[in-house]
Amino acid sequence: MFSLKDKSVIITGGGSGIGRAISLLFAKQGAFVNIIELNQVAADETVAQILQEGGQAKAYACNIVNQGKVLEVFQQIGRVDILVNNAGIAHVGNLENTSEEDFDRIYQVNVKGAYNCLFVAIPMMKEQGGGVVLNMASVASSVGISDRFAYSMSKGAILTMTLSIAKDYLKSNIRCNCISPARVHTPFVDGFLAKNYPDNIDEMFDKLSASQPIGRMGKPEEIAHLALYLCSDEAGFVTGCDYPIDGGFTRLNN
Ligand SMILES: NC(=O)c1ccc[n+]([C@@H]2O[C@H](COP(=O)([O-])OP(=O)(O)OC[C@H]3O[C@@H](n4cnc5c(N)ncnc54)[C@H](O)[C@@H]3O)[C@@H](O)[C@H]2O)c1
Repeated sequence: MFSLKDKSVIITGGGSGIGRAISLLFAKQGAFVNIIELNQVAADETVAQILQEGGQAKAYACNIVNQGKVLEVFQQIGRVDILVNNAGIAHVGNLENTSEEDFDRIYQVNVKGAYNCLFVAIPMMKEQGGGVVLNMASVASSVGISDRFAYSMSKGAILTMTLSIAKDYLKSNIRCNCISPARVHTPFVDGFLAKNYPDNIDEMFDKLSASQPIGRMGKPEEIAHLALYLCSDEAGFVTGCDYPIDGGFTRLNN
């Protein structure tokens, strides 16, 4: 079950956190994993680990904000059975402390970056006779979270792009879903704690952990297992869905 044998997979942001966990698991399941990363060193580390475990993988240095570069890399890879649009960046702030630069940066990476990869991948999938897209949304896509103005905007767009792609390409045999995690303990979380709460990192870590009714943050591997199901042939009847994986954050926080 859940074999990805010889599937060509493209994972953005596979050098860290959730993207790395998905890359490692998909390679274990037999996929050829192509990692698209801003951070070449981190991507090379993931690839080295996959090769060491007997899997197949290659890293491509690429900023997903640049459509020309995305096109060049996808053409080099040549085939895309599964696209995991995972790369994303964080921002903490309400409307009034979100500058134009902050807003543009979050939009460029989280929204336009995902669009760029879809723009290039979908025609390739159509030509190949089908494919699977998995987008990384967030609980912030559909729940009001304090001080996440720009981030929520970007993840709301991920959810609605998911629905649009799923609807428009039903007849092209392309499935498209998204995953909405609550807090997952990755460098992404450590980074924004260090940047935004340098004086009370431990206190904020505990607070963020407790905001999941289950009492902790998620693990990247837990997200990877849901990603595997959704990208596998076993999920052939699943499209246009947003899957919360959130320790009860969305429905039990009352
Ligand atoms: N960690 C969480 O709590 C959490 C919760 C919900 C959703 N998410 C989403 O999951 C995804 C992965 O998060 P993570 O916690 O693993 O983050 P992370 O920071 O650990 O990893 C993200 C990776 O994306 C890469 N990246 C960033 N910008 C890029 C660009 N322009 N082009 C190419 N690569 C780029 C980074 O180099 C990094 O390796 C993000 O979209 C994030 O919004 C995370």
